[in-house]
Amino acid sequence: MKQTKWWKNAVVYQIYPRSFQDSNGDGIGDIPGVISRLDYLADLGIDVIWLSPVYESPQDDNGYDISDYYAIYHEFGTMEDMEALIREAEKRGIRIVMDLVANHSSDEHPWFVEARKSKDSKYREYYIWREGEKNQPPNELTSVFSGSAWEWDEGSGAYYLHLYSRKQPDLNWENADMRRDMYQMINWWLDKGIGGFRLDVIDTIGKVPDQMITTNGPKLHEYIQELSRETFQNYDIMTVGETWGANVDNAKLYSNPDGSEFSMIFQFEHICASWSEYGKWKQEKKDFVKLKKIFSRWQKELWGKGWNSLFWNNHDLPRVVSSFGDDGRYRVESAKALATFLHGMQGTPYIYEGEELGMTNISMKDVSQIRDIESLNIYEELRQKGWTHEQLMAAINGAGRDNARTPMQWDDTENAGFTTGTPWIEVNPNYREINAKAELEDENSVLHYYKKLIALRKSEEWKDVFTDGEYVPFMDEDEDVFVYARVLGEKKLYVVGNFHEVERIVVLPEAIKEVLLSNYQETEKNELQVALRPYEAFIAKV
Ligand code: GLC
Ligand code: CA
Repeated sequence: MKQTKWWKNAVVYQIYPRSFQDSNGDGIGDIPGVISRLDYLADLGIDVIWLSPVYESPQDDNGYDISDYYAIYHEFGTMEDMEALIREAEKRGIRIVMDLVANHSSDEHPWFVEARKSKDSKYREYYIWREGEKNQPPNELTSVFSGSAWEWDEGSGAYYLHLYSRKQPDLNWENADMRRDMYQMINWWLDKGIGGFRLDVIDTIGKVPDQMITTNGPKLHEYIQELSRETFQNYDIMTVGETWGANVDNAKLYSNPDGSEFSMIFQFEHICASWSEYGKWKQEKKDFVKLKKIFSRWQKELWGKGWNSLFWNNHDLPRVVSSFGDDGRYRVESAKALATFLHGMQGTPYIYEGEELGMTNISMKDVSQIRDIESLNIYEELRQKGWTHEQLMAAINGAGRDNARTPMQWDDTENAGFTTGTPWIEVNPNYREINAKAELEDENSVLHYYKKLIALRKSEEWKDVFTDGEYVPFMDEDEDVFVYARVLGEKKLYVVGNFHEVERIVVLPEAIKEVLLSNYQETEKNELQVALRPYEAFIAKV
């Protein structure tokens, strides 16, 4: 009998703990805050929480700089709180997937502290050092957070590599002792009963800095297979690798159904489709035909050969309703259409906190409002290249990571119910209209739509079609509408929608029998020909 892995039918909800719920009035979200909202998440219908890093950290990059993998960052709570979260989630049928940052540690991790002290320390080789002269870095490699990727260490008279901030030195995966310590720590967490890991920028662990190779290094899959063998394969868990450098070919390795690497990866082709030579800071107009073709290729190529993760948002990306939808007049309709388009496909869907409310980007006017290290650094870098303050704020408001990190909007009381103190980052002023409490009371809210969408995906009748059905796209060249079928034997669903504000008549390949879910209230559709209103989307049985 064919066994379906539990995570193929799961829906994941990502929590950025700093911004989700503060429990003690210090303005910073925490683990007890997460526990207090578990009923909300259970009601939404999700199966897994991916928790962004909660380990001990100086918070240079909000926890993606870990100084102790075995401890909880004190402002987020204690190890007891973490264990309580795992137990309380489990009671509600929810698994906790932790975020594992294995490409780098904090410079305050004892390994790095020791490594820095002496060239003879066994920890020296846990990191990547190059001899040289001050002010003459080994090569031109740059950090994702601006500037050189090489930092001069005065004390030991050498450079160390950091693909991210200088407080995030890269670990050396060539070193077998480092790898062994890493596996031991991973197993220690797995033994606590967590549901798996999301692996931060894992496609850079095979880097060859001297050849300017960062992602997809020659030994990458060798390392991942060893990691998987020594840890993940002994547990019934889900794993998802963050891989900006993925393509459909290596994705088949990463998500090989034989379980030799991960359950799935996050690939970013749909996100980067409109980027320019300035990356996300300068983007072309979104090309919907191109976008559909990217999705279709991933859907078809991985069918039976791998597994997709489906996402529009995370803590590094602007809010989907602002970037791909309409966060003004058609906010509610477009948020629902985007969800329909994505969740209808094959793969494991991810919802980022607030996405289920249709939360939007925030508009900042001043540098003092920015919290994210990436945005602060790019501001300096591009200012020096002649960009104006206005251009920079527009770029940051459009693509910066703080858009995803403004506090979760729970209700219309001060600070959106996130904190009774002063929030570490400002609340989006639209919280009086957009918040969970109001949406729970409104049957037609984005939140209710997400609940119905999740329920439909999990319904006894349609579950196997969503999980295993073949993806068949139609009207690939159409600039406004998306139409695809999911087919499993005799069972067939159509996902149909309008990506834009224009009204459109669409002639479907087959007449539909019954609309199962729609983002407009009156939907009488049982014809070949359907008229789509602005951002109208539905899933129907044919
Ligand atoms: C990943 C994380 C991001 C972090 C970076 C460095 O891309 O998602 O938030 O800044 O890795 O750890
Ligand atoms: Ca707190």
